[in-house]
Amino acid sequence: MNAIPWREDYDTGFQRMDDEHRALLQIVNELFAKSGEGITRTLEFDNGLMELNRRLQAHFTQEEKWMKEHDALNAQEHCLDHHWILSGARWFTESYFKGNAQAPGEGLMVFEAYFEKHLSGYDKELADFLRARLAR
Ligand SMILES: [Fe+2]
Ligand SMILES: [Fe+2]
Repeated sequence: MNAIPWREDYDTGFQRMDDEHRALLQIVNELFAKSGEGITRTLEFDNGLMELNRRLQAHFTQEEKWMKEHDALNAQEHCLDHHWILSGARWFTESYFKGNAQAPGEGLMVFEAYFEKHLSGYDKELADFLRARLAR
């Protein structure tokens, strides 16, 4: 399975956010690189997938904390998008645990969409907002 390469437009310019995004992308790539086109369950993949879900949830919680603290614009829409991404991640995690060998491939699609749309959209907007706020 192809890794998702880091792209320049994924950079939001807010260092703490970018560091977390890069770490998430690395976990996604390490995990899915091992999964091939389909997968039979392994403890290693089980643990990796659960860790990815935890890290994603923690990342979203951090961003939502920043939104609250700084009264960010479009916070509701941004949170709702987090909710949809988490739902997608949970859906394929569950599907994988139920024995769907194709689930990792479907999961990778969820993450491709997350990195392509969310980072350059909601996250970039939040990053610009936070930078302006914190510069005051
Ligand atoms: Fe983010
Ligand atoms: Fe976000």
